Amino acid sequence: MIALVTCSELPSGSGEDELAERLGASWAVWDDPSVDWAAFELVVVRSPWDYKDDRDAFVAWAQSVPRLVNPAPVLAWNTDKRYMGEVAAAGLPVVETTFLALGEGLPDELPEELVLKPTVSAGAQDTGRFRPAADLDAARALLAHIHASGRTAMLQPFLASVDVRGERALLYAGGAFSHAVSKGPILAPGEVASMAIDEDPEMAAAGPTQEERALADRAVTWLTERFGPLAYARIDLLAGEDGSPVVLELELTEPSLFLGHSPGATERFASAFQALAR
Ligand SMILES: Nc1ncnc2c1ncn2[C@@H]1O[C@H](COP(=O)(O)OP(=O)(O)O)[C@@H](O)[C@H]1O
Ligand SMILES: [Mg+2]
Repeated sequence: MIALVTCSELPSGSGEDELAERLGASWAVWDDPSVDWAAFELVVVRSPWDYKDDRDAFVAWAQSVPRLVNPAPVLAWNTDKRYMGEVAAAGLPVVETTFLALGEGLPDELPEELVLKPTVSAGAQDTGRFRPAADLDAARALLAHIHASGRTAMLQPFLASVDVRGERALLYAGGAFSHAVSKGPILAPGEVASMAIDEDPEMAAAGPTQEERALADRAVTWLTERFGPLAYARIDLLAGEDGSPVVLELELTEPSLFLGHSPGATERFASAFQALAR
């Protein structure tokens, strides 16, 4: 039996009934103490989206599960976006990012429009878009809020292409490219985003450009060299200021796989998981 991991708010996952059925899998809540994780052939992390409120507990849980995908070292690395510094150091183009540790204020030189977000987050939680010329106080208030919760903040230029072209998410099943989707904009000017835990912006199937595909492939190769083969990965890209793709994040923990947007995607991911369960 395979277990698909979710959170108590979404006890039967989020839009993945078909995947569960195909795998003959059962849903289990990551912080439910009554679950015997060792009893499963494979435990696949899917929608434990409340972990952001207690990342340490989530990582400790991951370390306690014998046959977990993605494995605990991947989750420990991937649940704190300070990893983006390593992605940049590896030579992959990323959204320019300044990390603001506890006690650090906004730098004097700021982009005309900026994004502030925590290093531990999902679903655009505590993520805001501001023009310093107009909304400096609101930006400072969000930074203080992120720091008050004990998290490091990330400062990035707001890449305006997201409003026109959206974000691209490239999905990989067992290391092989499966499909891509475009994700509509989430951030409104001068505001902190507010989305429900299982809410997605406007989504559509989208073929990646050659450049996007090449960058996402490079990222997956780099990750595989580092961690070994990954059962699932989602590479999220934005168009940078010059139009070429840059990495926004590497989703190796609990990405929505947007299976409904590509014929055959459910089967591809189910096969990747089944191969590991055997
Ligand atoms: N630098 C940026 N420029 C434009 N939009 C951004 C930027 N950073 C984040 N966003 C928007 O905010 C959303 C959430 O940010 P993201 O970095 O993906 O964190 P998470 O998905 O983990 O909450 C993105 O999907 C995108 O719409
Ligand atoms: Mg994201």
